[in-house]
Amino acid sequence: MNIPEQYLKALVEISRQINSILQPEELIEKILDIALQQLSAERGFILLKDEQNEEQFTPHALRNINTPKISEVKDISHSTVDMVLQTAKPLLTFDALSDERFDAAQSIVLHQIRSIACVPLLLKGEMLGVLYIDSRGEKARFTRQSLEFLQAFANQAAVALENARLLVRLQQENAILKEEFHRIYAFKEIIGRSKAMEPVYQIMGKVLNNDSTILITGETGTGKELIARAIHYNGHRKDKPFVAVNCGAIPENLIESELFGHKKGAFTGAVSDKKGLIESADGGSLFLDEIGELPMLLQVKLLRFLQDRKFTPVGEVRPKSVDVRILSATNRDLQAGIKEGVFREDLFYRLNIIHIGIPPLRERKKDIPLLCDFFMKKYNHKLNKNIGSIRAEALQNMLAYAWPGNVRELENSIERAVVLDTDEQIGTDDLLLASRELSPDGIEAGMSLEEISKNLLTKTLSAVDGNKTRAADMMGVSLRWIHYKMKEWQIPS
Ligand SMILES: Nc1ncnc2c1ncn2[C@@H]1O[C@H](COP(=O)(O)OP(=O)(O)OP(=O)(O)O)[C@@H](O)[C@H]1O
Ligand SMILES: [Mg+2]
Repeated sequence: MNIPEQYLKALVEISRQINSILQPEELIEKILDIALQQLSAERGFILLKDEQNEEQFTPHALRNINTPKISEVKDISHSTVDMVLQTAKPLLTFDALSDERFDAAQSIVLHQIRSIACVPLLLKGEMLGVLYIDSRGEKARFTRQSLEFLQAFANQAAVALENARLLVRLQQENAILKEEFHRIYAFKEIIGRSKAMEPVYQIMGKVLNNDSTILITGETGTGKELIARAIHYNGHRKDKPFVAVNCGAIPENLIESELFGHKKGAFTGAVSDKKGLIESADGGSLFLDEIGELPMLLQVKLLRFLQDRKFTPVGEVRPKSVDVRILSATNRDLQAGIKEGVFREDLFYRLNIIHIGIPPLRERKKDIPLLCDFFMKKYNHKLNKNIGSIRAEALQNMLAYAWPGNVRELENSIERAVVLDTDEQIGTDDLLLASRELSPDGIEAGMSLEEISKNLLTKTLSAVDGNKTRAADMMGVSLRWIHYKMKEWQIPS
């Protein structure tokens, strides 16, 4: 190739420019602009193979060609573009009017095109499209050297374009896979496939790799700490510490120094400098468990820390700063705490940037069999036992039970059953559930209204031999409600 130095220099610069553009559409525009500019051409376009339909080529980035329709674009340049598409060779004509190759090409005559340069966009022998430019001036402007330059440029452009398209495709695929992955597999330590858990996984997927402050709420034993840990250990801070502080368990007079640290001699007993838990979590995550138990004075100090991530150890004068993600959890109703004046509203808003609410186990009964299986395996392994399954009747009882202690309670009863069991199946007796917890009327504190309604409807229907009108009368509801609920709860007629 015989490319003059000025072109070579331009190529280096151009390559830098086009390789920095990652958006395919923007890149296509830029490629055409560069070609027009370097060859002082007036008009042009880029024809590209469709990503969906490989048979079809569509024009992009038209310049000074007013119509976006392929037939009309082709009209201008039909013969040229076709020839390049077929031969995959660059084509140059100095004076299209007198070029014998275009005798039949009415279009060229029609549009008075004097000078055409058209090069294929080839990538590893595959035709991605063509770059077409022309000039309608009286004098032919394009030279053989300019064609060589254009082809060298087009080769680079093809690579850049393919990279940009590939990147977009990968980003799209990646986003889909990530969603899917997080929905189903990412948190393998968290058991649960019920619909009620989906929003939890969805939010988790979105916060893993940022530093947003998260408040996790849910009844006791629903897995708040488990989820906090999963967020940390699946996120970008996973190689840094996860420090959990139970705000309810530290004596009030020690919390400040535990959290923020102290200087030697700051108070009686402070025999040496001590790093606080916040500082130990530097770079990682700080999990403030039972945040609802934090005393007022400490709420103020925590708020100050959350505002600028700076804190002053007890007895120290100069503030220190750390980089930590804050997660907190509570089973208390913080809003009620605010109303009662025991929890600061401003702190609540600082902590509750992202909220994850974990549903109680009774609202995700579908997960009970999965959890049973999971804990059975866990305790079989731990206790060197070999319990194979849970009896159907025992499982029925578990499904009917309200689980006030949620997953922790379920885990404990499975553990107990695995310890106590002598045959290879867990039965109702091993679980110590129904007889202990369910009252004779089938109602028990903590049950959901839905569950009570369902039990009541089932009982009433059986008392009236399935007569829905009578059941509706007795229950004081409409017949439609009965039909609707029987369908929803799959109660057989
Ligand atoms: N979805 C789950 N999959 C597997 N194990 C779970 C799940 N949810 C909770 N657990 C287990 O249940 C127990 C209690 O969970 P965790 O300590 O995270 O609950 P918590 O909401 O923090 O409870 P508390 O409010 O009492 O502090 C743990 O052993 C945890 O591993
Ligand atoms: Mg907890």
